[in-house]
Parts: sequence; structure tokens; C-alpha cells
Amino acid sequence: MSKLWGGRFTKETNQLVEKFTASIEFDQKLALEDIEGSLAHVEMLGSCGIIPAEDVEQIKKGLTSIREKVLNHEVSFSVEDEDIHMNIERMLIEEIGPVGGKLHTGRSRNDQVATDMHLYLRNQTKEIIELIRFVQEAIISQAKQHVETILPGYTHLQRAQPISFAHHLLAYFWMFERDKERLQDSLKRINWSPLGAGALAGTTFPIDRQFSAKQLGFETVYPNSLDAVSDRDFILEFLSIASILMMHISRLSEELVLWSSQEFQFVELDDSFCTGSSIMPQKKNPDVPELLRGKTGRVYGNLIGLLTTLKGLPLAYNKDLQEDKEGMFDTVETLAGSLQLLAPMIETMTVKRENMYKAVSQDYSNATDLADYLAGKGIPFREAHEIIGRIVLYAIQHDKYLLDLSLGEYRNFSGAFEEDIFEVLQPKNVVAARNSYGGTGFSQVETQLNLAIEKLEK
Ligand code: ARG
Repeated sequence: MSKLWGGRFTKETNQLVEKFTASIEFDQKLALEDIEGSLAHVEMLGSCGIIPAEDVEQIKKGLTSIREKVLNHEVSFSVEDEDIHMNIERMLIEEIGPVGGKLHTGRSRNDQVATDMHLYLRNQTKEIIELIRFVQEAIISQAKQHVETILPGYTHLQRAQPISFAHHLLAYFWMFERDKERLQDSLKRINWSPLGAGALAGTTFPIDRQFSAKQLGFETVYPNSLDAVSDRDFILEFLSIASILMMHISRLSEELVLWSSQEFQFVELDDSFCTGSSIMPQKKNPDVPELLRGKTGRVYGNLIGLLTTLKGLPLAYNKDLQEDKEGMFDTVETLAGSLQLLAPMIETMTVKRENMYKAVSQDYSNATDLADYLAGKGIPFREAHEIIGRIVLYAIQHDKYLLDLSLGEYRNFSGAFEEDIFEVLQPKNVVAARNSYGGTGFSQVETQLNLAIEKLEK
């Protein structure tokens, strides 16, 4: 089969070179975007009088019929035609004859591939935004049931202060909200049209770039043809946002792994989201959150890979840029798969309130409240902190918790203590008292929950 660019060559391409340089194995994913871009381009060629209306009609018919075949999986791609662009152009010429060769007027594969990538990433970005919403809905459905479920809050993975479980879950809601915002914002830049930039310098034909941009739903066109064909920032941006998103998924997954361990027993993941061991009959392993945590590595890798590919690339198009695709496809698939699992896994997990409560009643995480109590009686906080520190030490030495000490024992440390400290120390009251805006106090958590629901409804 002769190459579409064969005129200048006297020898066949080495077969290994052909295989090495071809991208069709992976860029066939862009078939529909490629056809969409071509339809807009040929419409523009017609409207600018660059090719006759009958030719436009024929080309459009040909492209539409190829699109049907792609949708029905009736096409087979060939490595000889290197990439999706030349495969489809070849099919078009086979379908409608030599007039199909007019499609590539005033266009290069360089602006063509960039256009395809913009279209692809626009679709995927919207998809991922939707999938994040499902995760947020799952978080909200659990949070609604657990405003008054109390568990230890940690710093340094040491028990710090008791908190509402809904408060803990909602922390992730806001992380995902920012991820969504970042994706939404990136659409502004994805919506720049490179089409019509030509190989690098524009074209001699009187094209109308705004026209094809509008056809494709882009908001504006790249003002510089060199930038248009060389830019992969929009992909880097997607990969960066994806990395942050995946890091959030990974942190949440890590907590789910910890919480479902024998040591914590705060949650139990549904059987349908766990797997067993081939040797140890008792095992129920949290494979899904483990794998979500593990897959974060490849998402970071795809970002670093493309950053490295782009570093030091001279303008304008270089074949290196073909390496922009596989990592991006992989990240899209990894994210979509991860988010699709995360939502139902959160939704179906069982929260073990009693174990959480048992944990907060067997620790010293109400110590800050005692210090606050003394500070409320006019003792400088630093001094109060010192006194409570000594009380905690005393309690540990006597194998007791703060609620087990008597008023008499308290008064040995400070005369400011009165009977009401036992109310102050109750875990429920400890949580309820943190009523500052954004705090874990139950009424604050209710407010936060309503805000989150409002955000999601928008
Ligand atoms: N397959 C190529 C890519 O993905 C398309 C652009 C090729 N342009 C070129 N001048 N070789 O980047």
C-alpha cells in the first residue's frame, strides 16, 4: 500500500520503523473526534469557497458513513497508514474516490491531532466531573446518617480530639469539590481551537478559523499558529488535576484500609468490595481501596512522563509529541474506573458507631476541654495546659481516664475545678462545644452538610 505522503520517497519504509512510529494502535480512540474535526474543517472550506459545495457534501457523506462504521466496530485500521488521521483519510478516499483528497486542504496533521486531543479531553473532563459528583453524593448519604457519630480525630495518627464522623467524611467532600472546580476551570483552556494553524505557520488558503472553532464548540482560537500545534499544556493541566484528585482518593482509601483493620474496626466494607485469601480462610481484604491507593503511582507517572517529554522540545511539532497520548488515555481510564468504584464502596460500607464511641471513651482526647475549662475560669491557657498535662500523667500512672478521676483528685491540682467538669468531659459535649464556624460541633456540621448539598444541587 503506498503512503499518503509517498511522493518524495524512493524506498519502502523499514517495517520496524513503520511499527515503531505508528500510533494507530492507541490513537484509534480518537476516531470520532477526528471525524468531528474533519466535518467542521470541510464545512469551513465550503463556506469560504475554497472547495465547491458538491465536494463538501460528498466528503461529509463519506465521513458520516465512516463514523457509522466506527460506531458499529466495522472498520479495521492498518499500521501502514500510521495513525488515525491517515487511516480515516484513506477510508474516505476509498469510500468516495479522489475528491476525498480535498479534505486535507489548508490543514496539517499537526493542527488536526491537536484538535482531536482538545475535543477528546473536553469530553472526558466533563465525564470525570460527573463521576466526582457521584462520589460526593455517596459521601453526603453517609454524612447525613453520622452527624452525631463520634470517633477520635487524629493528628500524628495519635488520638487528638473527638469529632463527628460526618465532619471527617465531609472533609473529603470539599477536596473533591476543589478537584471539580479545577477541572471546570481547565475547560476554558481546553476550549481553544488549534484548527487552521496548519503544519506550524498557518496556510495560504483564505480559511476562517473562527468558523470551524464555532462548529466544534470552542470558545476561541489560538492566536499563534506555532503555539497552537506545540501546546500540550492543556493535557499537562489535566494530568496535574488528575494527580491531585488521585491523591485525594488515595488518602481516603488509606483511611478505609486503616478503619477496616482489626486494630480500628471503625468500618466494615461490603463483602462485594472485598476479596479473600487463597491460603488464610479468615481473611477479608480491602483490595479495592488498596488498589486505588496503588494506582495513584501510575497517574503521577503519566504527569511526570509528559512533563519530561515536553521539556526541551523546540518549536513547533516534533514526533515526541505523539507520546502525549497513552499516558493521558491511561489516566482517564484509571480515574474513571477509580471514581466508579469509590462511590458505591462508600455508600455500602457499614459504620461501626459503637466501636468508634468506645475508642473516644477510652482515651485522653478530652484533655483540651479541661484546659479550655480552666482558661475559661481566667487561668492563662499556657498555665492551664501545664496543669492538665500533670493531671493526664497522674491518670495514666493510676490507670484511669479523665472521667474516672474524682473531683477531689482534680482539686488537688487546681481549686478552680467544680462538679460541672464531668459534663464538660463527656465525649458528646466535647464535640458539641467546638461550635466555631467550620468546626465539628453538631450544629456546625449540620450547616456544613447543608452547604455541601446546596453545592451539589447547583
Ligand atoms: N500521530 C501523530 C501524533 O500523534 C499525528 C501528527 C503527525 N504529524 C507529523 N508531522 N508527523 O502526534
